[in-house]
Amino acid sequence: MDDRPRGVVVTGAAGDLGRTLCRSFLGDGFAVYAADVAPIDAVPGLVPVRVDVTDRGQVLGLADLASRDTRLEAWVNAAGIFVACAVDDADEASWHRILSVNLTGTYHGCAAALATLARAGGGRIVNVGSISGQLGGTGVHPAYGASKAGVHALTKTYALEGARHGVLCNAVAPGLLEGSMSREFGDRRRDRLAQANPMRRLGRMDEIAGVVRFLAGPSNTYVNGAIVPVNGGAYMPS
Ligand SMILES: NC(=O)c1ccc[n+]([C@@H]2O[C@H](COP(=O)([O-])OP(=O)(O)OC[C@H]3O[C@@H](n4cnc5c(N)ncnc54)[C@H](O)[C@@H]3O)[C@@H](O)[C@H]2O)c1
Repeated sequence: MDDRPRGVVVTGAAGDLGRTLCRSFLGDGFAVYAADVAPIDAVPGLVPVRVDVTDRGQVLGLADLASRDTRLEAWVNAAGIFVACAVDDADEASWHRILSVNLTGTYHGCAAALATLARAGGGRIVNVGSISGQLGGTGVHPAYGASKAGVHALTKTYALEGARHGVLCNAVAPGLLEGSMSREFGDRRRDRLAQANPMRRLGRMDEIAGVVRFLAGPSNTYVNGAIVPVNGGAYMPS
């Protein structure tokens, strides 16, 4: 009988979505390994880990740490960066930086999670994609949508591979959310985008977290390789 606590890794844990996810997992008694480049305060049950997801060694170290003291059940790749800019002003340095954090960082997370969860007999990986990876978008660096489309494709590959090891891998594709990332658009554009949504508002972090919790939990036994739109109906792929 393994009496270690249930464990979860959340990357991007200092961000708006990451903090919401950490609170949600903590509320259910998980030991939460909260990884970010930004500082995070320790609270009971939460282990802050300074990790740059672009560095594979650091991500592998995170997996070792989390699986040493817990029964690791799930890994959520939520670290990401967003650069608001006109598409015709998009610079190459930002292209590399965005792909490196959003896509390469998620790849390192998927690889570390699959190896670790497979050794433990199974688990769940949840990636955070975006409606931008499905539709593209203006006013944001083109690398953002490209990186998120890559996250969606990575999700399907890790779903196929993971299925052989009891590891289900899915992604959420949120629309624009309330929080610091969407504030980069400025108030006027943000309000216009909110009004253009069929629900006439932006999404909330808890609305994304609820879907992540389902995909990351034991109730999810057969959803695998899905890119789940959580966007108020702004895009409804069939
Ligand atoms: N906010 C939105 O409107 C929205 C919409 C669709 C998808 N998303 C995605 O949701 C995820 C969470 O976004 P958020 O709204 O919480 O944004 P956020 O900016 O509040 O959080 C992102 C976190 O990622 C961390 N991070 C950045 N680079 C990192 C690195 N190299 N290593 C580790 N951590 C790093 C940041 O420090 C930050 O804490 C991101 O992947 C984002 O692309 C957000």
